[in-house]
Amino acid sequence: MAIDYQERIPNNVNLSDDRRLQRALEAWQPNYLKWWQEMGPTEFQSHEVYLRTAISVDAKGWANFGHVKMPDYRWGIFLAEPEAGRVVNFGDHKGEPAWQEVPGEYRGVLRRLIVTQGDTEPASVEQQRQLGLTAPSLYDLRNLFQVNVEEGRHLWAMVYLLQGYFGRDGREEAEAMLERHSGDPDKPRILGAFNEKTPDWLSFYMFTYFTDRDGKYQLASLAESGFDPLSRSCRFMLTEEAHHMFVGETGVGRVILRACEIMKEYGDDVRQHGGIDLPTIQKYLNFHFSVSLDLFGSEISTNAANFYSMGLKGRFEETKIDDDHKLANSPYSILELQGDKLVTREENALTAINERLRDDYVTDCDRGVRRWNQILKRNGVDFEFKLPHRTFNRKIGAFNLENSGGQRFTPEGGMISEAEWDQRHGEWLPTEEDRAYVISLMQPVTEPGQYAAWIAPPARGINNQPVDFEYVRLN
Ligand SMILES: [Fe+2]
Ligand SMILES: [Fe+2]
Repeated sequence: MAIDYQERIPNNVNLSDDRRLQRALEAWQPNYLKWWQEMGPTEFQSHEVYLRTAISVDAKGWANFGHVKMPDYRWGIFLAEPEAGRVVNFGDHKGEPAWQEVPGEYRGVLRRLIVTQGDTEPASVEQQRQLGLTAPSLYDLRNLFQVNVEEGRHLWAMVYLLQGYFGRDGREEAEAMLERHSGDPDKPRILGAFNEKTPDWLSFYMFTYFTDRDGKYQLASLAESGFDPLSRSCRFMLTEEAHHMFVGETGVGRVILRACEIMKEYGDDVRQHGGIDLPTIQKYLNFHFSVSLDLFGSEISTNAANFYSMGLKGRFEETKIDDDHKLANSPYSILELQGDKLVTREENALTAINERLRDDYVTDCDRGVRRWNQILKRNGVDFEFKLPHRTFNRKIGAFNLENSGGQRFTPEGGMISEAEWDQRHGEWLPTEEDRAYVISLMQPVTEPGQYAAWIAPPARGINNQPVDFEYVRLN
């Protein structure tokens, strides 16, 4: 299914057949570009970056690589191929044909789901806008910009749905996407984690590992949607998302590898030799994992149950699960604080949908942590990274301070008092001093093939290019 690049807005949805939608999107496009110039990457807008662009949506060879200036990136609308005879696969409408139009009774809910997803996409571009100034190499600079332009495209994907299927309120929501800004006290982004700063590259790698992975799980459950255009949009977005998580996993891995090299050469004082020590990496991991867990929402959620029963948002890999896909009377185990004990109890699987998605996410996060530990092992370093316990540092759900009656938790899930937390949180979360140290390392390295001293070069380049390729042309 080829993408039409002759059009002002590249697309594979026959946009030229729908003049009203085409006009709406063409009216939004200059506002988007203005937002990109003002809130997108600081500087580098006139430099050529080795970016991949989608040329078709099938699995083999959808990407085309070449040097482009970011504002000239061909943002557009790409949906995965339609599946003939697709049906709603879960909930009250299970077995009915998938919806090609918005089901009237679910209009408001569906719009909210799309807006919430869409809002995270430009938010992360805003969070990361300063990072180009301190990239540890041209390779990393290019990866940052690749992630940024694709998050911009994900916004296009959601705006297409809003403008194409929700009429006037959809057009208003599309404008509002460009008006809210990450960290803006008056008009913040919708979700908490997307108003946090991404002030340094270790945070960026942790964000792309943990927070983009939340994106993967949200997109995967929306890809199950009975609303077919949403499903097809999300299916193609997932193929782009994989690269973001790759940037995160390999980025953190290279910081770990560099720390190992320093330890082998000079002994344990990694900071003295310009690296990031393993305990500091663990603290960043603790922070980003716990903040990302919050993005899945409350353990018990009637909203999530409704989204499911309505057929709008499924579970991860819904169709591979062997059950009735209605969940009227199925149990699901959740962790709960009862008095001064953490206990597992059975909850209705329908209201525990969020928790199930969070569980799938935790399992996935753990795989990468094990690969990071392999790097330590291969280098003979006696240290082990661990995901903190799900109760640690939570702001949303049963383990937030209010809901847990002021109970605090250690990264192992041990219960501690507020006083002990105040004394010890600096052992588990980055302190001001840790952050200042990491930020002090952030000096730009702009020679092809050169890498900052706190990070190892990648094992291989992008698209079979060498690691000293000129991924961004600075001259
Ligand atoms: Fe995204
Ligand atoms: Fe992403």
